[in-house]
Amino acid sequence: MEIAAGILGTGTALPGKVITNHDLEKLVDTSDQWITERTGIKERRQAAPEETTSLLSAEASRKALAMAGLEPQDLDLIICSTISPDMPLPSTAAFIQTQLGAHPCCSFDLAAACSGFLFGATVAEQYIKTQKAKYALVIGAELLSRYVDYHDRATCVIFGDGVAAAVFGPVEPPSGILASEMHTNGAFADHLYIPAGGARKPASCETVTARDHYIKMRGNELFKVAVRSMEDVSRRVLEQANVCPDQLALFIPHQANQRITNAVRDRLGIGAEKVYSNISRTGNTSSASIPICLDECVRSGRIKKGDLILMSAFGAGVTWGGLLVRW
Ligand code: ACO
Repeated sequence: MEIAAGILGTGTALPGKVITNHDLEKLVDTSDQWITERTGIKERRQAAPEETTSLLSAEASRKALAMAGLEPQDLDLIICSTISPDMPLPSTAAFIQTQLGAHPCCSFDLAAACSGFLFGATVAEQYIKTQKAKYALVIGAELLSRYVDYHDRATCVIFGDGVAAAVFGPVEPPSGILASEMHTNGAFADHLYIPAGGARKPASCETVTARDHYIKMRGNELFKVAVRSMEDVSRRVLEQANVCPDQLALFIPHQANQRITNAVRDRLGIGAEKVYSNISRTGNTSSASIPICLDECVRSGRIKKGDLILMSAFGAGVTWGGLLVRW
């Protein structure tokens, strides 16, 4: 009999410091009105210097494990989706594994930007279905404030810090992951990137002076790719599982921009009351955005057993992915 993989527990760790739109008005030529109208964001979190990606990941993971009724030693697989790792080497997943006190197990980082949590969920699903792992931890962890240029009004207003984790494991059908997809098209790589700090352009005095270690974004072009790709991948996972949009209990899109969410929702014909949004409080937390939403929905009782939940995301790469789950 085929094994179904599902989500057993979720947890979030947000830094305490809140950066409001009014705080950003003091740094760049922007306004609360512009940010609110163009993005839906009112505030975002920013990690303190001592708060690392792995530290917040371990905190979120402990909460997810507690909800799942599992111990760190039960984990066979740890995937940390991040584009803001503690260090280039070793993986942040290695730090998380040891901070949790998990047994040495297959632990690695996954770089798919904002789609990363859904990519990680799809990888975990394969491990569980093939019985190469019983319990897998997937973390979406981003401290993008460390890569945001607070001189660039086009990017610094969007991104926020946050981490969330989910424990995946075997579940009784009909619950579990019903369909998933992952896609990448590197032709749009120049829409969102960090030019320096990699092997192509290692750190030097020149790269620091040129502010090349910060995120560069072509927001307007990305906006259109985002709407098209999220609509497309959402339709594909729904079709795979033979599910109509009106059967959904909840749609959790990547929180990139409220206008992107609204456009995707309208194209798919999903009622606004079924769409979850927390972007006003968190900004765009990249790969953490979907698991943070998921955790908020689980803990507030918005998700009930048997609910059909659609998640879709896009991110730098560009990447895009979709996941359909029956809770
Ligand atoms: N405050 C005031 N004005 C601004 C700001 C700001 N913070 N940012 C840009 N502007 C100005 C621009 O300079 C431009 O001025 P101009 O007309 O005089 O040249 C004007 O506003 C319009 O700029 P656009 O870029 O066309 O504005 P747009 O409506 O597209 O909104 C935004 C910009 C919010 C970036 C939007 O394009 C967007 O959200 N795109 C998607 C970005 C995204 O999701 N990126 C993350 C991907 S996820 C990942 O992988 C990490």
